[in-house]
Formats: sequence, structure tokens, C-alpha cells
Amino acid sequence: MFAIPLGADNAELRPLEPWQAEEFLAHMDRGREFIGQHIGLADAAADLESARGWLRSYAEKTAADAGRLYGIWLDGVLVGGVLFRVFDTEKGTCEAGCWLEPAAAGRGLVTRASRIIIDWAFRERGMHRVEWQVSSANAPSINVAKRLGMSRDGVLRSHTSYRGARQDTEVWSVLAHEWLADDTAAPASTSAPASASASASASASTP
Ligand SMILES: CC(C)(COP(=O)(O)OP(=O)(O)OC[C@H]1O[C@@H](n2cnc3c(N)ncnc32)[C@H](O)[C@@H]1OP(=O)(O)O)[C@@H](O)C(=O)NCCC(=O)NCCS
Repeated sequence: MFAIPLGADNAELRPLEPWQAEEFLAHMDRGREFIGQHIGLADAAADLESARGWLRSYAEKTAADAGRLYGIWLDGVLVGGVLFRVFDTEKGTCEAGCWLEPAAAGRGLVTRASRIIIDWAFRERGMHRVEWQVSSANAPSINVAKRLGMSRDGVLRSHTSYRGARQDTEVWSVLAHEWLADDTAAPASTSAPASASASASASASTP
């Protein structure tokens, strides 16, 4: 199994798959309240069966080339992840997302992990647009979009209902030519998370 180092602090990006459901659930249980403030992931992975089902839904998206899911491990502990909720190769657009348990926040892990998958989407998959949809109330996630060099396209007013309250959704995005022209956007190593070359060149992990 491949793992891509995220920097000097012993953090790694790896695929997150259905066989890791127990580890994923334990991580969710540590971060449930924090993660569930603005997104439904905490509710979608409420117990082992639903956690496995959610991971399986991403395995199916991956098989269909319609989405991706990667976990972030810090000192060998699963602490969060990044994903492509939508990956539309015909339109050349995709939507990225992220989460962390609170102990792992504030270290740039999601920004670094997002750079790797976004760089892969643009350089290896020829995507034209990577989108970031976020509740207007979710300042930490909006700050990630800003750190990634995204622009605010606009706001979808009263777009969704979450835990009984209507919420506005901000849409942020970065386009291929913007990303490729920005020397600070790409990760230090532009290893592709889902390619054979990444498997061969990335650091060793558990076999
Ligand atoms: C959204 C979320 C992942 C952001 O977490 P985060 O830790 O703020 O984001 P990052 O991992 O990119 O870290 C950035 C922070 O680390 C700091 N940092 C330290 N080293 C850094 C580095 N090398 N690179 C970038 N930032 C770094 C930044 O200054 C920033 O801290 P600040 O906000 O106090 O200025 C987190 O709040 C979360 O999981 N929320 C719940 C789930 C959720 O809402 N997901 C988003 C759905 S749209």
C-alpha cells in the first residue's frame, strides 16, 4: 500500500478503504462532535455498519472514477481525510472536501493533503475546475479554501438543511490555469495519489 508523506511531522496520506472501517469508526468517535458541526459525515458514520457502508460508497465511486477518498495518518493514527465527493471527468470538474479530528487541527494537514489531490486532479487527470462547497458558518474550512488559492464564486442561499436549520453554502473554486501558474499552490512533491508511479515512488508504509 502506498503512502505519501505530508511533511516533516510524520503525517501521511493513504487510501482509506472499507477494510479500515473499525479504525475509521474509532477516529470518528474521537472527532464526532467537532466534525459534525457543519457536515453530515459524523452522522453518516454512526456505527460500524454505517462507517463501512460510507467507505464502501467511496470504493464504488473510485471504481467508477467518480470520486476518491484518502485518509490522513499522524504518527500512525488515522486523524482525518480528504476526498473528491464529485469527480466528473466528462465535465472536467470535481468537488474536494476534508475533515480532521480536533487533535490534528491547526497544523496544516488538510491544506497539505488537499494540495496533493488537487495537483493530481489538474496535472494527471486534466480537470479544469476544482470546487469547494462550504457552509458560510464554517470559517476554518473557508480558510482552507483561501490557503489553497481558491476564489469565492458566490453563495447559494438557504441551500441545505442541516440538523434542522437552513444553511447558506459558499462555493469556492480554483481553475487549472490558475493552479498551474501558481508556484506556491502545488505540493513540494507532486506524487499522484492514485497512480502506479506514486505507488512506486512514495515512502514505505505497511505492506
Ligand atoms: C475544516 C478543517 C479540516 C480545517 O482544519 P484546520 O486544521 O484549520 O486546517 P489545516 O489542516 O489546513 O490547518 C490550518 C491551520 O494550521 C496552521 N498551519 C500550521 N502549519 C501549517 C502549514 N504547514 N500549512 C498550512 N497551515 C499550517 C494554519 O495557520 C492554520 O491555523 P489557523 O487557522 O489557526 O491559522 C477542520 O476545521 C474540520 O475538520 N472541521 C470539521 C469538518 C468540516 O467542517 N470539514 C469541512 C467541510 S467543507
